[in-house]
Amino acid sequence: SDLQAFSHQILQWYHKNPRELPWRGTQNPYKIWLSEIILQQTRVAQGLPYYEKFLSHYPTVKDLATAPQEEVLRLWQGLGYYSRARNLHACAQHIHFDLGGKFPNNYKDLLLLKGVGSYTASAIASFAFDEPKAVVDGNVFRVMARYFGIDTDIASSKAKGEFEQLGNKIIPQKDPGEYNQAMMDFGSRQCTPQNPDCPSCLLQSSCFAYKHQMVKELPVKIKK
Ligand code: ADE
Repeated sequence: SDLQAFSHQILQWYHKNPRELPWRGTQNPYKIWLSEIILQQTRVAQGLPYYEKFLSHYPTVKDLATAPQEEVLRLWQGLGYYSRARNLHACAQHIHFDLGGKFPNNYKDLLLLKGVGSYTASAIASFAFDEPKAVVDGNVFRVMARYFGIDTDIASSKAKGEFEQLGNKIIPQKDPGEYNQAMMDFGSRQCTPQNPDCPSCLLQSSCFAYKHQMVKELPVKIKK
């Protein structure tokens, strides 16, 4: 089907263009959670040294849970949005002291953690637990709107649910985390907002926007 062709091509692209990132190649939910909280409002290049610093200070959720809050906030200095650091510390304490150190191991339970929304829960569930939940963010809106020719206003309230539904239909049951990583990289490095590299794109011949010369028109975003 069309959907299968898409996921197949996205994975093909990813195998030729993977980003080597330290939180890839692990299924440790603590490490993945830490990386995703850092990356919520921070670019990869800026977040990387913080990820390494936090892991070397706090190799396990217990180490983070039992650290003084001032220390955690001090290590966070320079990243901004300090509620992320406070939530990080509070979640670690909740997991260590209330859940007996057992990290929530599915999408529904991950969503209950402070500071974990649908994107972060999908990332952790797919990377650590092989649960087929599609991540949906600006990158994913853009890639799917262009490839499938979806003209839903991505600023509208229904957009997220629509793209999430489609994403969850597309995501392969086998190694779903790999598909999510592929979407993150494809959106940030190939199918970019300005001047996407269509001439070199492996998905060019089946991309709706390319075929109809609508790459500049998609995704649709109506200013409020
Ligand atoms: N942005 C959010 N999560 C990410 C991840 N796991 N890899 C790269 N960029 C990201």
